[in-house]
This record gives sequence, structure tokens and C-alpha cells, in this order.
Amino acid sequence: MLTGDGPLVGVVGSCNVDYVVRVEHLARPGETVRGGDVVRLFGGKGANQAVAAARLGARVSLLGCVGEDADGAGTLEALRSSGVDVSGVSRSPRPTGSAFIAVDGAGENTIVVSPGANADVDVARGDLESFDVVLAQLEVPDAVIEQVAARARRCVLNVAPYREVPSGTLAACAVLIANRVEAEGLALEQLAHVVITEGAQGARHLRFGREVARVGAPRLEVHDTVGAGDAFCAAYAVQFARGADAYDALAYAVVAGALATRATGARGSLPTHEEVRAWRDDA
Ligand code: RIB
Repeated sequence: MLTGDGPLVGVVGSCNVDYVVRVEHLARPGETVRGGDVVRLFGGKGANQAVAAARLGARVSLLGCVGEDADGAGTLEALRSSGVDVSGVSRSPRPTGSAFIAVDGAGENTIVVSPGANADVDVARGDLESFDVVLAQLEVPDAVIEQVAARARRCVLNVAPYREVPSGTLAACAVLIANRVEAEGLALEQLAHVVITEGAQGARHLRFGREVARVGAPRLEVHDTVGAGDAFCAAYAVQFARGADAYDALAYAVVAGALATRATGARGSLPTHEEVRAWRDDA
């Protein structure tokens, strides 16, 4: 049951348990590197984006799937205590998804994901039409993405981790969000609204391949970039759901993404709406 007066945001996506190791440099193919102690945290692009959106003041429901294992129970508890409605998260006999994450001295990362229960996400009975915006990513099956794009009033699709998506599905989304690498897979000149995140350089908004807005990122000491993209996507979707124009949603999301790099883990330093506003006022 969602209460309050924030915008209604549905998030369709993954739940993982993240195993994070800090390393001096990221391993190249065939190389073994020594890391620090493993830190175990709740993650998954869908769950991270849901928590980030709730922290920014939205009323958030997550539609996803976790295992019938202890990780699944822990995931649901962590989501509930962050104010996310989990009545749309089902349980599966598969294990809860896992992600194996290395973070180097500059805060850059590599991630290997084992989907587990995320492969069983099913939105056929989910009330996708009731949200102001539905935010999704690509850690769930293709059929789920197709349904979200077709049924949501406005779908914001984060094309991460990148895989090819049918052009009709992409065209049905209100906005696509990609990082520079993911954007290489998109036919930008055919797409109405694409937001490209560029890390410390900020982000750009393209209309049919032509840049219409660009915002630089605030300068901060970066500790860990894991989850910065998730904070960006959540912030963009929340501000879009509040009725912001493309430039305002971009500027809000750039600040939220930057603030999310201040601590270890995808949810270690997710900002509130008030923090984002304060940083924007200082800019
Ligand atoms: O975007 C960061 C997330 O990607 C991690 O939490 C990990 O679980 C992977 O899904």
C-alpha cells in the first residue's frame, strides 16, 4: 500500500546480492589480481533504482522476482525498510540473483551478473498502467520489457546491461537512458529521446541523434561508481513523473548520480530530494 503524495513510479527490474571486492586495478583477461575483503550488499539495477526513487520522494512499487532463499527474504526486508512496495515481487525456486563486482582505486568497476530468479520476472498481472512512469532495465527477460513498453503510460528504459532490443519496443518508450558504451548499440538518429550519461562529464539529451541539452556534473571526490547510473535513472524518472521538462530532469539526475558515488556499494550514498535540491542551488 503506497501512501503520501509523491509521484507514482513503478520499477520493473532485477534484485541481486552484490559481492564487492576492492582491487588496485581491474583484472585483464587471463590475469589474477588480489583484492580486499569481500563486502556483501543488496543490489540489482531494479532494486537499486526502486530504493533511489523512494529516497527522492516518489511512491515506488517494484515488480521483480527473488528466490525462496534467505537472500530473497533479506532482499524483500531491505526494500520494505527503504519504503518500497514489494507486493509485486514474486518468489522463485531459482536462487536470488547475484553480482560479482570489482572496484578499482579510481572507483571504476566491472560486474558479472548471475540472473537466477530475475529470469522469472513476470509482469502479466502487474498493474503497469497505474503509474505516472514505469522505469525498467535489461536485467529481466525480453518479453517483460516488451510488455512494459507497450502498457506503461510512460516508460523510461535504461538499456543496461546492453543487449539488442527490437526497434518497436525502443520506439514505444518515452525516454531511453544509456551510458556511452550502451549508446553505441542504439540507432540514435531514429530515436526521439535518448539520454546519454557520461560519468564525470555529466549527461546529454539527444533528439533523433541531435543534442538538445547538456549538463555538467558537480565535482566530488569519487569513492565508488557502482550504482551511480541507477541513481541517475531513478532521479530522471522521478523528476519526469513530477512533470519536469527534459533539461530539468537531466540536471536533477546528474546531481543525484554524482552524489551516489560518495560511499561503497550501489545504495551507500543515495541522495534525498532535499540534498539534490541543495546541490543544485549551490551549482
Ligand atoms: O548498477 C549496479 C548493479 O548492477 C549492481 O547492484 C549489480 O547487482 C548489477 O545489477
